Amino acid sequence: MTAAMRRAPLPRLLAFACPLRAGLLVAALAGAATTAAGVALLGTSGYLIARAAEHPSVTALAVVVVTVRALGIGRGVLRYAERLKGHDVAFRVLGDVRVRLYERLAAIAPAGLRAFRSGDLLARLVTDVDAVQDLFVRGVLPYTAAVLAGAGTVTACAFLLAPAAGALAAGLLVAGAVVPVLTCVIVRRSAVRGAAARGTLTLRIADALVGARDLVAFGARDAAVGAVRAADAVAAAGERRAAVASALGAGLGTAVSGLTVWAVLLLGVGAVRDGTLDSVSLAVLVLTALAAFEVVAPLPAATARLAETAAGARRIAAVLDAPDPIRIPARPLPAPSRPVTVRMRGVGARYEPDGPWAVRGLDLEFVPGRRVALVGPSGSGKSTVAALLLRFLDADEGAITVNGHDIAAYEPDDVRRVIGGCPQDPHLFDSTIRENLRLARSGATDAELLDAADAARLLPWIAALPEGLDTPVGAHGTALSGGSGAGSRSHAPCWPTPP
Ligand SMILES: Nc1ncnc2c1ncn2[C@@H]1O[C@H](COP(=O)(O)OP(=O)(O)OP(=O)(O)O)[C@@H](O)[C@H]1O
Ligand SMILES: [Mg+2]
Repeated sequence: MTAAMRRAPLPRLLAFACPLRAGLLVAALAGAATTAAGVALLGTSGYLIARAAEHPSVTALAVVVVTVRALGIGRGVLRYAERLKGHDVAFRVLGDVRVRLYERLAAIAPAGLRAFRSGDLLARLVTDVDAVQDLFVRGVLPYTAAVLAGAGTVTACAFLLAPAAGALAAGLLVAGAVVPVLTCVIVRRSAVRGAAARGTLTLRIADALVGARDLVAFGARDAAVGAVRAADAVAAAGERRAAVASALGAGLGTAVSGLTVWAVLLLGVGAVRDGTLDSVSLAVLVLTALAAFEVVAPLPAATARLAETAAGARRIAAVLDAPDPIRIPARPLPAPSRPVTVRMRGVGARYEPDGPWAVRGLDLEFVPGRRVALVGPSGSGKSTVAALLLRFLDADEGAITVNGHDIAAYEPDDVRRVIGGCPQDPHLFDSTIRENLRLARSGATDAELLDAADAARLLPWIAALPEGLDTPVGAHGTALSGGSGAGSRSHAPCWPTPP
């Protein structure tokens, strides 16, 4: 386990952005500058209006007019820069996370996938990973902008009237820290449940779609639709709770902002009466305080997003940390050379550590030139033996040797290069025949593919297809079934490379 693996899920996702920290910093600074420009715009406009009421010469206001314009235009440009850079980082991290997730799934498939349902896995791969972009764009960036711009605004106000700056700082802290934390406490529970509920919903939909024919044939369609509806209701309820919490947070934030502006106004009016503040500065102070709450306004929503992303991050981490379903040697032996001799002695295997034995006390020998048929009733363990030989499963007892060495001492892919299997239900990817064949050996030339097809007696059929190797197979190979009759699923390629 690496150090990164031991970290909590959310910091771990943040760590994925480490190589992009320069971009993230630019986005954070641009975000803070945008917010600060918004506050400064209102403060400067306040000054302009209040000062204009005193009828000074136009030249006295020229600089302020230009500043207002510059802030107005600058705000838009800075916001654009923040969005551009922030999304760039977010999408790069998102792509990275998705690739890592996919690589882990590929590494642990098929044995390691038993712990996950396919629809739920899809939700992890799509929805949970998509939520990663919110972590940066709607989670991290609003916080950095709020801290930087908030501190700047309070400092600026302190130059005008220190007690008012104190009141503003207190108001910003309550609206920016207390309110979001309160919101977060409410949202967190529904977020965890929401992520799980979305997983269940995808699972039910996938089940209903994949098994639609069987469900209709056995009159179970209404039950399946009902299950989808129920899962949808749970997911929607979670979303509603999260929305209510965010709305409460926003309302509470507005209340705090109103009270703080009143406090600043009262303190300012007192100061004007005492002669420590002039009336133009009072306008600037109050308008700046009002604008300052724009800084913290996105924080309740940002906190809610963070809670949701944390729930998604946990589900992503569960896949990334899924244990190796089989023993992988640290220093594997060189690939076994042909001809291959395989011996099984007293082999026993089970799918769960305390589960029933799928096979036990098995002795078998596969030597070059001999054909061995393994027959037995359903459930007697024939597929399990194939899984053991293809390294999809580890033996719990006995020994399996390939050319005299423990099968687990080789790289699993090297074993699969010399031991092949044709499953009862092969998986075809929705792509062309060529790409499906290339799964066994990426980079194989067309000549090699046609050779392999010839060995599998598929060549005449492929040659008869108008598009040849470029023929799309459709989802689960549906485009191949029927037709000439030769292209049924039983012709699907097997796992390893043909010799
Ligand atoms: N993925 C799995 N998880 C848990 N138990 C399993 C799994 N696959 C098979 N088993 C169990 O292992 C035992 C052997 O099953 P296996 O699929 O190897 O039998 P089989 O001889 O191939 O049967 P069939 O003729 O139906 O294909 C059975 O008791 C089965 O229930
Ligand atoms: Mg079987």
